[in-house]
Amino acid sequence: MKTYFATFIPGLSEAIKEALLKDCPKIEILKFFESSILFKSEDEYQHVVSLPYINNVFLVANHLHFDRNKKAGSIAKELLKDAQFKQFIPNTKNVSFRIMIQKGADLIHIPREFSGKIIDKITQQTGFVFAPLKASVEYWFLIRNEGLAILGIKLTNLIRRSPGDNQQGKLQPEIANILNFLSEPHKDDVYLDPFAGYGSLAKDRILFNPYKHIYLSDIEKPLVERLRKLNSDKVTVQLSDALHLDYLKDKSVNKVVTDPPWGVYEMKNVRFEKFYKAMLNEMQRVVKTNGIIIILTARFKEFEKALLQTTLHLFKKYSTLVNGKKATIYKLTSV
Ligand SMILES: C[S@@+](CC[C@H](N)C(=O)[O-])C[C@H]1O[C@@H](n2cnc3c(N)ncnc32)[C@H](O)[C@@H]1O
Repeated sequence: MKTYFATFIPGLSEAIKEALLKDCPKIEILKFFESSILFKSEDEYQHVVSLPYINNVFLVANHLHFDRNKKAGSIAKELLKDAQFKQFIPNTKNVSFRIMIQKGADLIHIPREFSGKIIDKITQQTGFVFAPLKASVEYWFLIRNEGLAILGIKLTNLIRRSPGDNQQGKLQPEIANILNFLSEPHKDDVYLDPFAGYGSLAKDRILFNPYKHIYLSDIEKPLVERLRKLNSDKVTVQLSDALHLDYLKDKSVNKVVTDPPWGVYEMKNVRFEKFYKAMLNEMQRVVKTNGIIIILTARFKEFEKALLQTTLHLFKKYSTLVNGKKATIYKLTSV
């Protein structure tokens, strides 16, 4: 069994746990926190690192729980003492490595005499070469606010994840994945994202989740032109206002997963309660009875006021952070 430490988007621990147990049914969970998990698994690192809702994954060489008053230096020394570095040998020769120490969110300077000890130990056990400027692997000492300290190799650097550019307003792939997961994907789903933007949600759905048909629309013509690359007999892309989805018949979709505007980068003068009410009314029209609607927004006050003016049922809500901004995910059902 290998021990892994993984971090994920905060606030979604229950959903992440459910997804993880589905993808790696035989894992043994050692510790579970608000935005991280320590677990043992027979799974190879290639499988663990490919899980689309995980931010970072480390193969653990040692871990310990520490007393909050303990200094970072002595925690790191203790971690090093019984660390087992041999368990992970990447598929390449001439592996070079560097070392990072992080306490909370801060990277810590490593005193020369201590870095010497770490380098000797890793080199002896693995044969890897210390080369901080062109390292192929990184060993991280993570001293977490949860009271858990980890020493492990960072796996997320070894495999290129979904490439993703950083356009404003574009969703992180990890959150796109968990939003889709919350919609309870099924092979017969007729799926809609009426604020599709760069198409992060649809791309995730196509890659990782089943569906029968996907409808995507946006009000911006250049974005719709880009989305048209996804066009197929199972994906329909339309230029459309989400408040008037004229291309969709009543009760024609059963899953909506979307990230409407929050008024952060654009639409600063819009009255969001009114906008969200019109959006929800239109969703209510196109969604079948018992359909599921997943909405991510940071404008929870306006959204919740608008929701009260519809007959949609609030099934569950999750508070999370998206690019450092507080946001809420709403899971609604149509009745
Ligand atoms: C937050 S972004 C969605 C980003 C998308 N989830 C992604 O990751 O690329 C909101 C999108 O809503 C679109 N939009 C704004 N008002 C709209 C409206 N009335 N109807 C349809 N789309 C609209 C914007 O053009 C923008 O692409």
